[in-house]
Order: sequence, then structure tokens, then C-alpha cells
Amino acid sequence: MGKSVVGRFGILTSGGDCPGLNAAIRGVARAALGLGDVEVVGIANGYRGLIEGEARELKLRDFSGILTLGGTILGASREQPFRDDDRVPDSEVGKSKPDIIKANYRKLKLDCLVVLGGNGTNTTACLLAREGLNVIGLPKTIDNDIWGTDVCFGFHSAVHIATEGIDRLHSTAASHNRVMVAELMGNKAGWLALYAGIAGGGDVILLPEIPYDVKSISRHLERRTLEAKPFSIVVVAEGAMSRQEAGMGKKERRKYRESTGFTTIGYRVGQELAQATGLETRLTTLGYVQRGGSPSAYDRVLATSFGTAAAQLMAHGDFGKMVAMRGSEIVGVPLAEVAGRIKTVPEGHPLVETGRLVGTCFGD
Ligand code: F6P
Repeated sequence: MGKSVVGRFGILTSGGDCPGLNAAIRGVARAALGLGDVEVVGIANGYRGLIEGEARELKLRDFSGILTLGGTILGASREQPFRDDDRVPDSEVGKSKPDIIKANYRKLKLDCLVVLGGNGTNTTACLLAREGLNVIGLPKTIDNDIWGTDVCFGFHSAVHIATEGIDRLHSTAASHNRVMVAELMGNKAGWLALYAGIAGGGDVILLPEIPYDVKSISRHLERRTLEAKPFSIVVVAEGAMSRQEAGMGKKERRKYRESTGFTTIGYRVGQELAQATGLETRLTTLGYVQRGGSPSAYDRVLATSFGTAAAQLMAHGDFGKMVAMRGSEIVGVPLAEVAGRIKTVPEGHPLVETGRLVGTCFGD
């Protein structure tokens, strides 16, 4: 790879955690330290650590034994310094968060900042790059909704966990002849529900991208009952919405949801289906289990590859990019292309078509 143009870099993990973060941290650090004369500064709790100056130098031994570890050894937060730019108390009065970050970047003598995160994190990275910092992003999220990359690390581990959950619901659903609603994460994009739903043989899969109609789901469940399949699995992404809601603006939808009194969409779908079909219905929310634990073998490989690719971009001084998978190639895409965008499940996606061909109902 040749000698690195970077002598000292900071690394942070921002946004919700996911399996594979430590594998990626290890990949970046090992590859960078392998070039000799490079120093690594671990920044605590995402961008918050850069605002509060919470950072320490890390050595090669700090990256041992973390490949298989869930979570992040650096800690994470959902701090978005440009969005939540309230003045920081007890700090340099009057300075904005981005200004404090820039000052701390200089104080820590960083030549580059490597950020591991989702949409918000990479958008912030782009804005910091515009402010003159050398930044490199890595895409992580169980939602798989980062623009510019085919896949994000964390996603396949979550698919695996969610599929196992659905498998377990199958046997109990069959024993009791029940409709089992499984609510999965995925607020704006339904990738996780789509993949786990197909892998787990969900009879119904509801995604934010395909607004649902209770009547059409009910017909599907009733047809199954007539075919002597008196149990069903309904996989619901947390951001799924009805046709009626799809016609509303964001604010109106939020208000409407509050007025219905259901804590999550899964509860609502469960009750709507029970009322419409008379079938006994139960809800399971998989929640944070989907983000926890050891990364899958695929995510370990992906995160390590992304990490080492980030170290290569850094060594070449190829800043302002996010590491991405395009087809079977790992590339650097400009952060400006990624910022502010979300990759949702497009209409007619092959996996949706696959689902339809095996008889899955998407609620439309
Ligand atoms: O990591 C993304 C995500 O899993 C979303 O699907 C979910 O809405 C969100 O995180 C919730 O996380 P938190 O409670 O940590 O903000």
C-alpha cells in the first residue's frame, strides 16, 4: 500500500450500534498501523466525544479480540452536531458544535477522521468535509438504507437474528393456529423485513415502501385458513403504513398515529387483523435483539474489507469518500453523493417479485 499520507487519525462510531462495528474498527486500525508511524485516536461516543474532547490514543493491542464482539468498543451516540446545534454549556461560550469539533480535530492533531455510521453520520461527515476536515465514512446499519452502497455491515447479522425469530414463531403459530405478527426494525426502509420475511417464509410482509390495505391482508389470511393453513406469520417493518397514512404528510401522519393510541405499528396491525378476520392474533416485537451480539461471518468479512479499504483511502489521501460495495467491488463514493439521501426498497425490486411468486402478500 506504500507509506501513508496520514500520520494520525481519529476514529468514531456514531448512530445506533450494530454487529460488525468492532470488526470494522479493527480492520481500519490494523491496516493503518501496518504502515508504521501511524497513530490512532479512539473518540468516545460518536460525534459527542469530539465535542466534549473525550478521546485517547489506541495501540495495536486495543484491537485484539474484538473481531467477533458485538456493539462498539468506542461507544456510540446519536449526536448530530449540525442538526442539534445548540450552544454547548460550560464550553467555549458562543461556539457552535461544528466549530468545537473543528477546534478539537486540530487540538488532537488529527490528519483525518474516520467515521462509522448510518445516514445521519455520513451526512455529518460530508458537512465536516465541506468545513475543511479530512473525513472518510464507512456504512453501517441494520436497516441497509445508506445510499451509494449495495450493502451495509450489520444488515446480514440482523437478517439472521430476525429470521431465527420468525422461525421460532412459526412452530408456536402452527401449534395454536394463530396469526403471529412479528415487528422488525426499519423505519424508513423495509430491507430487513423484506429479507428476513422471505428467509423466514413470512405469509405477509409489510414494508414502509408498499402501503398496506387491511382488507387485502385479511383476504390473504382467510384464503390460507380455507386451504387448511389456519396459522400465519405477518412480518411488519416498524415504519410500515396503511394506504390512508401514505396519503398524509409526515406531521399529519405522526398526529394520526398518536391519536390511534397504539405504541407501535405491530400492535395496530395485530388488532386490525384480529378484528377483520376473527383469528387469534399475537404480537412479537423483536426490538434491540436485532442490533445485539456477535456479527455473522458475512458481516465480519464485509466489515473487515470495508475497514481495510478505508485505511487504503486514508493512506492515499483520498478523503471525502464513503467506502461502499458496488456489485462485487469495494469502492469509495463521494460523501456528497451519499449525504441527505436514503436507499429504500424500489418498486418492483426482484426480491419483492420473488416473494409474490411464492405467494407472499405485501398488503397491497
Ligand atoms: O439502527 C437503526 C435502527 O435500528 C432503526 O431501525 C430504529 O428505528 C432505530 O435504530 C432505533 O434506535 P435507537 O432507539 O437507538 O434510536
